[in-house]
Amino acid sequence: MKMTNTKPRLLTGDRPTGRLHLGHYVGSLANRVRLQHQYESFFIIADLHTLTTKPEPQYIKDIPIFVRETVLDYLAVGIDPQISTIFVQSAIPETYQLNLLLEMLVTVPRLERIPSLKEMARDAHIDSMPFGLLGYPVLQAVDILLPRAEVVPVGKDNQSHVELARELARRFNNLYGEVFPEPEAIIGDVPTLVGTDGQNKMSKSLGNAIYLSDDATTVEEKVMGMYTDPKRLRATDPGTVEGNPVFTYHDAFNPSRAEVDDLKERYRVGKVGDVEVKKKLVKALNDFLEPFREKRAYYLAHPTYPRDVLANGIRRMQAEAKETMDIVRSITGLEYSFDLFADEVDLFGEYDG
Ligand code: TRP
Repeated sequence: MKMTNTKPRLLTGDRPTGRLHLGHYVGSLANRVRLQHQYESFFIIADLHTLTTKPEPQYIKDIPIFVRETVLDYLAVGIDPQISTIFVQSAIPETYQLNLLLEMLVTVPRLERIPSLKEMARDAHIDSMPFGLLGYPVLQAVDILLPRAEVVPVGKDNQSHVELARELARRFNNLYGEVFPEPEAIIGDVPTLVGTDGQNKMSKSLGNAIYLSDDATTVEEKVMGMYTDPKRLRATDPGTVEGNPVFTYHDAFNPSRAEVDDLKERYRVGKVGDVEVKKKLVKALNDFLEPFREKRAYYLAHPTYPRDVLANGIRRMQAEAKETMDIVRSITGLEYSFDLFADEVDLFGEYDG
């Protein structure tokens, strides 16, 4: 018997740009793993969104590699395909279809007011705004509305995109009839995780990231090279704990409160060296990451499993998208093509223009 799920729907996801790191875990993945029990969850790997800044074939060529890494990371951290749906955006043809319809319901000045788009253009060294990049949040609204999601957990940087999705849902419903719930953003309250350089948020492009899939030796190398308190030259100098990334990570990943408190106390008075603090962090991080690595290794050794997970997720989302687009075509009146010359049609009736 097919169980119908009565939980509210959730959709969120990532652009496939590489392996996921500790910043992703703290900022969103941990939350998703929790939320999937409360909501019927859809996790989108938004490959089409990467085209907004990188449409060239040499970038498209790498997308499948990144999609695979993302699926493996999702599964490794505990997104459970028994209860959640993982899918790839480009495998859902209705994405392109609904995108066109929603484009008609928003103005260019409205999109130009969204701050993240200018930043994305700047970061990608694009000096004139492409039509598709301006439409980034419209495409995101499509992702959210196709499964008729009610909640969208995202970071602050995506808040304005979810706001646009709400407006588009409202506008559509007002024009044509009630189809879409107005999705609500769930904004995580965790501060962004600083990178190993201690200067910027953890990010792939800055080379300051520890990846969920890094092996134990790599984690050790990265941690031993971490930025700490630059004013502290000797282990006997009093050091600063606040804002020191080594302690930020201890707070986030070391389950032993007692050990962390003891290290902080001794650090402040100059009774512990950086090396000891870092070695204990290496241990804590590797203990934290080991279960993820084990699962990842298992899926790599049994690739039919992640392959089936993705294939099933895509099929599931395709069915949802079809259902939504059937309603959309019918309620908008955009379903007449094959009936135009049917026998029972009064070919010259009704039109009085
Ligand atoms: N815009 C998100 C990002 O910053 C990725 C994304 C695409 C997304 N579609 C979505 C997030 C739908 C939430 C809901 O990478």
